[in-house]
Amino acid sequence: MLGINIGIDLGTTTTIIYVQGKGIVLSEPSVAACDAKTGKMLATGNKAYDMLGRNPDSVRVVRPMKDGVVSDFTVIQSMLIYYIQKICGNKIFKPNVILCTPSSVTELEKRTILDLATASGAGRACLIEEPLAAAIGAGLDISHPCGTLVVDIGGGTTDIAVITMGSIAISKSIKVAGNALDEAIIRHMRRERNLLIGEVTAEDIKKRIGCSYLRDEELAVGVKGKNYITGMPAFFEISSTEVYLAMREQIETVGDAVHSVLEITPPEMAADIADRGIYVTGGGALLRGVDIMINRKTGIATTDADDPVNCVAKGIGKALKDINILYDNGYIFKTREETSGSEE
Ligand SMILES: Nc1ncnc2c1ncn2[C@@H]1O[C@H](COP(=O)(O)OP(=O)(O)OP(=O)(O)O)[C@@H](O)[C@H]1O
Ligand SMILES: [Mg+2]
Repeated sequence: MLGINIGIDLGTTTTIIYVQGKGIVLSEPSVAACDAKTGKMLATGNKAYDMLGRNPDSVRVVRPMKDGVVSDFTVIQSMLIYYIQKICGNKIFKPNVILCTPSSVTELEKRTILDLATASGAGRACLIEEPLAAAIGAGLDISHPCGTLVVDIGGGTTDIAVITMGSIAISKSIKVAGNALDEAIIRHMRRERNLLIGEVTAEDIKKRIGCSYLRDEELAVGVKGKNYITGMPAFFEISSTEVYLAMREQIETVGDAVHSVLEITPPEMAADIADRGIYVTGGGALLRGVDIMINRKTGIATTDADDPVNCVAKGIGKALKDINILYDNGYIFKTREETSGSEE
């Protein structure tokens, strides 16, 4: 194939771009700022993220991915055009682009993202399931007939997959992940403390003192928000126990989903998983004690992958290096004509 190979992990929270021969060249929030009247894109990534909750009416700040799939087509197209142009400049041959999707997207959602990629400057595009790429990126050997269980906890979705012989055998994708934890903290503060906080503050609290189980030693952090009753700015302290209790239901849901995948895993592969352990990837793996929580739910040793946020992008990179990994497992690059005309 002519043209350079690019991997794009278009996540609900973070967009990470891998270029063959260069490695990861970009890692920025999946946020865009657009002119409210004309729709023209004004900023993407970090610059747009800094505007979240601080934008005037004339600027619309959006997260164009929701629950792992495209929710704002126009904005995603503008972002893809911008990134592909930035990477390829005026190269004669259009790039080949691999993108990720959660494991349980519909055929329509798959075709939409392929169409968007080829309409945005990709010569050919191919999709790979996120947990499969995450497993490759985590350095797991998935080519043999042996079951491996990967839990990718992102911003919009938690993807749980049992992988064997380079393919997904069983998978489950739930819309409970990092963003749901942030929303739970916001709801808790409003209901229990009459305090309004924004999504950036809630995420910051989660990252600083969030934990997946009730820890013995308590942490606390000072937070700025707004009093719901008086409408005045407020400064308050919140403890790790309170944050845990706010997020508990969502954390339990993730643990229960892993349990339910194990329940339907055939015995031989379940035995492999018991031997090899469970691997956690995605930004959610950085929440303290996720490994302990999953271990308590399942009784199986659980490990957080190294550099979990970049596992998917690194996995796409490895697949691009050895493109046969993709071909052998039926992943095909398609041109614009082929994606628009395909009936799958
Ligand atoms: N230190 C941390 N502690 C807790 N959560 C964290 C930490 N760092 C990142 N996260 C969370 O990880 C999530 C982002 O993870 P990731 O970048 O893997 O998601 P994504 O790939 O964009 O989303 P998806 O795969 O669902 O489309 C966010 O909710 C973020 O708040
Ligand atoms: Mg992801």
